[in-house]
Parts: sequence; C-alpha cells; structure tokens
Amino acid sequence: MTILVTGGAGYIGSHTVLALLREGAEVVVVDNLSNSSRESLDRVQELARRPLEFAELDLRDEPGLRKVFDAHPISGVIHFAGLKAVGESVEFPLRYYDNNIGSSVSLLRVMDDFGVRQLVFSSSATVYGNAASRQLVESMPLAPINPYGQTKAMIEQILRDVAATGPGWQIVLLRYFNPVGADPSGRIGEDPTGTPNNLLPFIAQVAVGRRPELQIFGDDYDTPDGTGIRDYIHVADVADGHLAALRHLPAPGSAEAVNLGTGRGSSVLEVVAAFEQASGRQIPRRVVARRPGDLAAAWADAGLARERFGWQATRTLSDACADAWRWQSANPEGYRSAV
Ligand code: NAD
Ligand code: UFG
Repeated sequence: MTILVTGGAGYIGSHTVLALLREGAEVVVVDNLSNSSRESLDRVQELARRPLEFAELDLRDEPGLRKVFDAHPISGVIHFAGLKAVGESVEFPLRYYDNNIGSSVSLLRVMDDFGVRQLVFSSSATVYGNAASRQLVESMPLAPINPYGQTKAMIEQILRDVAATGPGWQIVLLRYFNPVGADPSGRIGEDPTGTPNNLLPFIAQVAVGRRPELQIFGDDYDTPDGTGIRDYIHVADVADGHLAALRHLPAPGSAEAVNLGTGRGSSVLEVVAAFEQASGRQIPRRVVARRPGDLAAAWADAGLARERFGWQATRTLSDACADAWRWQSANPEGYRSAV
C-alpha cells in the first residue's frame, strides 16, 4: 500500500504519516512547506525507523504532481494540504479560495487521470457554522461563517460531485473537531508560525515562557463556567482515525462525511486546569472580550465514526496536555529549536 499524503509535513499530517509508517505503509509526502518544515519529516522517519518519500511541491503545480504519480504506485490519498487560519481567511479570502480549492481540483484531476480514486479529505467542524444544537451530527445542514469554512464546505461538495461520476471513487470527508496534543515522544508536535490562533498551543507557549499570559475570550457564555466549550481530540487519535477510515472506505461511487471528535466538550477553564496539572506550571490568564465568530459550545456526535470505522478516541485531555507539554518544553521554539 502506497499512500500519498498531501500536507504531510504539517501538524496533523506528520502524526498521521508516523502512524502510516508504523502500520507498514509506504508513504509519499507532497508539501510546499508554506506552514511547516522538513524537520518534522526527518523526525517522523527517525521515530518510525523507516524512510518516506518527500516532494517539495505546491499541489497547484499540476505537471509537478503528475511526476509524483508517475514515480510511485500510489493506491490512495490523504489530503491535508490547505491554509487553515480563520482570521487570515477573512482578510485574504482569495488566497484561501485559490490555495484550498485550486490545490484540491488539481489533485483530483491528477488522481482521476492515474486511476487513483480512494481519498480521505481533511474537513472541519467549522462547516456546521452556528448550528441549532451544540452536539453536531453529520446530517445537519452546512452553514460556514467564514471563507476558510466556505472552502471546506465547497471542497466537500466538489468531492460529492466527483464521487457521483462513477463507481471508482471512494471518498471520506473527515470533519475534525479540535485536534490537540503531540506524539508522546515529544519529538513532533504543533508548531504554529507567529501568534497561535488556537487555545492549546497558546497555553503551551505561556507555560514555556514565550508569552506572558493567556487571554480568555469571554466568560459570559451560556455554559457552566461561562467560557467556551469545544471537543478537544488527541492528534494521535485523529491520526488513527485516518487509518481506520482508509480501512473502511464507503461504497464505490460515494463520498461520506464523518465527524472525528471525542463526543465530549471541555471549557477553556477546564483545559487550562488540565494543562496546569500536566505541566506543573501556573498559567497566568485574563478574561477579555469575546472573539467575533466564536460559538458558545460545540462537540461531536461521534457515533458514525464508531459505526463506520469501528474507531473511537481513546486518549484523554490530560494525555493530550501531558504530550503537548513534553513537546513544548523540549522544543520551546518548535522545530526552530533544532537549528
Ligand atoms: P498545517 O498547516 O500544520 O498543515 C497543512 C500543511 O499543508 C502544511 O504543511 C502546509 O505547508 C501544507 N500546504 C498548504 N497549502 C499547500 C499547497 N498548496 N501545496 C502543498 N502543500 C500545502 O495544518 P494542520 O493543523 O495539520 O491541518 C491539516 C488539515 O486539517 C488542514 O486542511 C486543516 O484545514 C484541517 N483541519 C485542521 C484543524 C486543526 O485544528 N488543526 C481542524 C479542522 C481541520
Ligand atoms: N480561546 C481563548 N483564548 C485563546 C484562544 C482560544 O479563550 O487565545 C478560546 C476560544 O474562544 C474557544 C476555545 O478557546 O472558546 C477554542 O478556541 P480555538 O481557536 O482553539 O478553536 P476553535 O474551536 O475556535 O477553532 C478551531 C479551529 C478552526 C476551526 C474550528 C472548528 O481553529 O480552524 O476549530 O473546527 F474552524
């Protein structure tokens, strides 16, 4: 089995590549390194004690991508590559539509030409937008509220249309909730460029002394402690979810959306407490205004993933905090700590 992993040098991609190598798969990574570094792939190979193939390439470079398909007997694709910062997508929508949709279309064209029609795509719980309920289920209508979310919903639609063209296509649309944590080795992890947008990496950078305090975006939500609730899922569980999805692809000619979450929500204050416990460090924090566009609470209905893939998350929030702390404390500047 040879799996092409687009965006495989990134946060979720690198953990999934590690899981694939450990399962014995051959892996070809395509990444333009716009939000990642080669160092992550060096460390993945060191952890797996197996090599992988890497092509530094923008997916929109279709001739370049064809060469990759020519050179390797690719049987399936996991498509992580994309831009993912909500705020940036509001400021530069065309950058997001061009990169995320352009690279998906280019990838699909090349896959079709080479007869490779098994695909797992990185979608996001953001496609649900302001849903009527806090527990999000796959059958809900999609209502993304920013350009990043629009690209995910549009790519999902493109993939449904492509799957409907013939019985060859088997496509899974994985809607991730909030991936957090790191490989327990502490060798690979989340390494955001600039100021982290997400809660866990921000807390980790406060704990390691890179930032003075955490700003909590609102404590007047309609939740038990007033702070926002999300479904945090360990990145190693997310990685395992991809392997399970590849093993249980839907019927030929279909594209199916499946949530990857734990089914449980945690508040910002609960995450801070779990991180303090795991790291033994105090996290200075201050409550500030709500962040525009944030939901009060959202978590996954995780039933479909169990039913379709026999998969469920097994790691806890405490595990994720301990692993994130091991990564952050050993690599205070992320992969740049290595040079
Ligand atoms: P990441 O930025 O760490 O990884 C994405 C990778 O794609 C990067 O290595 C980047 O260099 C690469 N890339 C971007 N555009 C490319 C292009 N045109 N050609 C080739 N490579 C390109 O992000 P991540 O957190 O690992 O997320 C992976 C996927 O999961 C993304 O599609 C993201 O939208 C989705 N997702 C992430 C989260 C999350 O919270 N991390 C939640 C839901 C969905
Ligand atoms: N939060 C803070 N302070 C921070 C960062 C976050 O209080 O510095 C709070 C947020 O208000 C929210 C919670 O922590 O209540 C989680 O915020 P994240 O930004 O970590 O996660 P979101 O659920 O808001 O967003 C994430 C991804 C988006 C994706 C969305 C749905 O970042 O790209 O999940 O999948 F769209």
